[in-house]
Amino acid sequence: MSRYAIRLMLLTDIAQVANIERQVEFHPWSERQFQESLTAGQRCTVIINSEQVIGFCILQPVLDEANLLLMAIDPKYQGQGCGLMLLEESLALLGEGCVMVFLEVRGSNTPAISLYQKVGFHQMGIRKNYYPADRAVFANGKEDAVLMALTRGNPFG
Ligand SMILES: CC(C)(COP(=O)(O)OP(=O)(O)OC[C@H]1O[C@@H](n2cnc3c(N)ncnc32)[C@H](O)[C@@H]1OP(=O)(O)O)[C@@H](O)C(=O)NCCC(=O)NCCS
Repeated sequence: MSRYAIRLMLLTDIAQVANIERQVEFHPWSERQFQESLTAGQRCTVIINSEQVIGFCILQPVLDEANLLLMAIDPKYQGQGCGLMLLEESLALLGEGCVMVFLEVRGSNTPAISLYQKVGFHQMGIRKNYYPADRAVFANGKEDAVLMALTRGNPFG
């Protein structure tokens, strides 16, 4: 049996969630942004190991579609299948009424793009110079976003 559990995010998780976010993001969300996501009714999930939050996922349902806004796994737990488990279960929690899921991801983020492809997302396009980026790596201080989509149901079925 897996030692990890996935459940909906609680307000009391936010300090741990924001701590993970600060470790992995160049421009991290604040605790307040996570609180607003929860109170706005976004589908926020966490993955737990021994009562400690080790990752999170934020999906924004919009009618019969959803946007994947953010997800991350604590660097100490990356590469162990947690991201895949969290993403699959978070998508399942959207229910069958959700037929499409969209996301944007940094073009350089190979681990995330590979994870999204693994669960069935396909590249739809590129948004040029979308993200602020480290000038040491991107001379203009900007990085492209890759737009991806997952079709979950048969829209004609
Ligand atoms: C992207 C992220 C969530 C993946 O989580 P993870 O727990 O490390 O991923 P998993 O161990 O579940 O791996 C699942 C799949 O992801 C891909 N993947 C994960 N790490 C990878 C890496 N370093 N290089 C390439 N692909 C990778 C692979 O397809 C992998 O499947 P495989 O093991 O069969 O090859 C994690 O790296 C992370 O939190 N990154 C920082 C935050 C971020 O980039 N979030 C996404 C943008 S919002």
